[in-house]
Amino acid sequence: MNKDIQAVRDRIEELRRMVEYHNHRYYVLDDPEITDAEYDRIFNELVSLEEKYPQFDHPASPTKKIGGDPAPSFSPRKHSIPMYGLDNCFTMEKVRLFIERISKLIPEHELDFWVEPKLDGLAVEVIYQSGIYSAACTRGDGSTGEDVTANIKTVKNLPLSLIDPQNAPPYLEVRGEVVIPKNNFEKLNALKMQKGEKVFANPRNAAAGSVRQLDPKITAARPLYFFAFGAGVIHFRGENRWTAQSEIASGFRKLGIATVPGGKLCRDLNEIEQYFQEQASERHAGPFDIDGLVIKVNEKSRQDALGFTARSPRWAIALKFKAIQEKTRLEQISIQVGRTGVLTPVAHLAPVNVGGVMVSRATLHNENEVRAKDLKIGDLVLVQRAGDVIPEVVRPLKEERTGQEKNFVFPRTCPSCHTQAIKIKNEVAWRCVNLSCPARLEQGLIHFASRQALDIEGLGKKWIRIFVSHGLIKKLTDIFRLQKDDLLKLERMGEKSASNLLDSIQKSKQDVTLPRLIFGLGIRHVGQQTAKALAERYRDLDELAGEDEESLQAIADIGPEVASSIISFFNNPDNRNLLEEFRQLGLWPVSSKVSSQEMPLKDKKFIFTGSFPGLSREKAQELVEQLGGKAVNSVSKNVDYVVAGEKPGSKLARARNIGLQVIDPDEFLKLIDNKD
Ligand code: IVH
Repeated sequence: MNKDIQAVRDRIEELRRMVEYHNHRYYVLDDPEITDAEYDRIFNELVSLEEKYPQFDHPASPTKKIGGDPAPSFSPRKHSIPMYGLDNCFTMEKVRLFIERISKLIPEHELDFWVEPKLDGLAVEVIYQSGIYSAACTRGDGSTGEDVTANIKTVKNLPLSLIDPQNAPPYLEVRGEVVIPKNNFEKLNALKMQKGEKVFANPRNAAAGSVRQLDPKITAARPLYFFAFGAGVIHFRGENRWTAQSEIASGFRKLGIATVPGGKLCRDLNEIEQYFQEQASERHAGPFDIDGLVIKVNEKSRQDALGFTARSPRWAIALKFKAIQEKTRLEQISIQVGRTGVLTPVAHLAPVNVGGVMVSRATLHNENEVRAKDLKIGDLVLVQRAGDVIPEVVRPLKEERTGQEKNFVFPRTCPSCHTQAIKIKNEVAWRCVNLSCPARLEQGLIHFASRQALDIEGLGKKWIRIFVSHGLIKKLTDIFRLQKDDLLKLERMGEKSASNLLDSIQKSKQDVTLPRLIFGLGIRHVGQQTAKALAERYRDLDELAGEDEESLQAIADIGPEVASSIISFFNNPDNRNLLEEFRQLGLWPVSSKVSSQEMPLKDKKFIFTGSFPGLSREKAQELVEQLGGKAVNSVSKNVDYVVAGEKPGSKLARARNIGLQVIDPDEFLKLIDNKD
């Protein structure tokens, strides 16, 4: 390498060190040494040298924090050690019990606690190799998260190269929370509102939504910060190991990694309480959302001795702040009609800022709730965010009433189609039972098109409302009959968006699987899990629709309520027609799990009566079910085989009476054998 080139390389390296250093002063220490203009000069010199001499380009250069190319999706990535959640509590008494519990488990040790704020963001693990940023992964389900390396790289206060990388641990997993400052969150939402986009409900959602952008340039434009709270695997160099939470925190800071601000060592419950009071009274002052404290046994060896339960470490607990309450006016109560026809009262509130989030609506759940809380329209009410997210009306301030407040009368008709509402026995909810009610239809369509169901991209609430109000969609299957000409007549629907929408509708038809379609039907009580269980048992919608209640209940996790809801859904003639239309449209997925070869006794119903030497009744029933058959209890014409053992009961007589086929245990075993 000639001397000039060598000088360029040295200068590039020097500039990188300078930029990292000033980033650290600015973003981590909050104590800049130079002006923004001076910083820009250094940064720009580095950018232009890297452009001119691409042979010296490096992925960990601080100029690379601007976001790389978009990715098609995030790939899963396994954590070396699972990322656990935390047990929550709300009172000092629970903290006392926590300390008492662990003191009993390791009685011979004095305990110190590392206590720090619990930030409200997204947990992420960041990996450094030889002091250089190498990967990042979300917490995900605790054992596997999503690889968000390209996005986390853009986080403002995260160094791409640690201070003194040669002496940093050769391999280091840093765990922490990605957060967005409260004021930036408000600005971001204001911007989204301007663009007519959906706003984030709280800073946590904003942080999570920003990290999970497929285009890292969008992430780079968001003011995200990372604060470390713990470590995963670390390979240390030499003997200098960190043996406590407090050492991990100071070790991270020495490397240039920001840690959760305000961590403190407490020796007993009193010190913890004092610190909690301080933090609770200052919680709104800080730039980030804090929802409590995390109390951790400080010494690593004691943590190891205490270990983990299935969900969380025994050595840590979160002490949450009480929900923030604010006063506001209950201006109106409206009624929302859900997909299943349930009429839900919704409180319309004078907009109020509850701990950094504007609240103007809150569900009141049902008529009883409104009555129990004794709410009147016009009341001043206390509002809080339950679990700090979902807003909730706590109670009216009765002492503030003027006499002008109005009683709320729960309507007896559906506000959308004006059909008489009914109340099902033992239920609190009033329902609209009109299957073609436009409000129900709208909600049903939103559910049908949603990500977990048909996943029709571009068909959201907004368009559904428009299609329904223009009469273009009157039932689910009308989605597949939308014509381009009809779409083009609508305001704000251009040629391109119309084609895109029609394409994604066609695509959804081809891609849909049986569990998604079952879920999409919106049968009461049939969520994703149940839909999956049904799709594993039945070949297609026809088989499911032809099922009886007893056999449905034989499926694990399906109880009487769910079974009866499924039966009444398919008993409805409109829904039967819907199935026929699905079939004609070619929207007819078949189960990937059930094939007739694996299920030779498919649909065959068995009754067992009497005892079976050498074969328990349970085992016999299990064998039948493994081959796709069903073991039922009551004698009816639908039963295919009656297996009569020794000392059969009255069922045998009844079965003979109606002419059912009766076999003995040997014939039963032969039947099973032949089918194997
Ligand atoms: S310690 C095994 N410390 O809270 C130790 N967690 O409810 C678990 N969190 O997944 C984490 N601030 O996302 C810890 N100072 C803090 C935290 C914190 C926020 C989050 C983290 C975790 C969740 C558990």
